[in-house]
Amino acid sequence: MSFHDSDPDLDSSGRELVLALGYIDTLHEIFPKMDLLNSNHGSMAYRKAKHHGVPRHLLKSYNDALGVPEQDWKWHDQIVVRLPNGHDVLIGHFFGSDVLKASIAMGMSLIQGHAHSSFELRYWQSMSGLHFAITSGCLIDDKSLAYAYNKMQIKRPIMGATFIENSQPYLIPMLVDQDNRWIGTK
Ligand SMILES: [Fe+2]
Repeated sequence: MSFHDSDPDLDSSGRELVLALGYIDTLHEIFPKMDLLNSNHGSMAYRKAKHHGVPRHLLKSYNDALGVPEQDWKWHDQIVVRLPNGHDVLIGHFFGSDVLKASIAMGMSLIQGHAHSSFELRYWQSMSGLHFAITSGCLIDDKSLAYAYNKMQIKRPIMGATFIENSQPYLIPMLVDQDNRWIGTK
């Protein structure tokens, strides 16, 4: 459903959805309650509908389409999380290519994704305290045909996740084997 050209050797979006539904059940068991961010990826169905003049009201919610109870997974444009130390963090899909600059401009800690080939944690200090600006890693399989549109770019996707424990942020790269499969370490 991407606005990029799709490789004709890929499964259709309908086939992908059928394949994904089985895994969504497993994901729901692992994360029965989850807050998710809307993005230029996850909101593709609604972007396509808007592009073709279909009102949002006529479309199913994602939870409905995925078979997840409406109250279990909550979708947001942005989320503000208050950490145990009283520090607020704004989390969104993308605030800009320079996340440190965006964080300083907004006067608060930020976490974003979207960039694919950036994975960074920067700190800055203001009179009100220490703040962080994070561009988190992604989970893109660089060898997938679905990502073939990027194959001529020098920068490759960096797989990893951001983890916060007791108000302390950590970046955790996803270590993989020769076949690009996770080797199961943190
Ligand atoms: Fe994105």
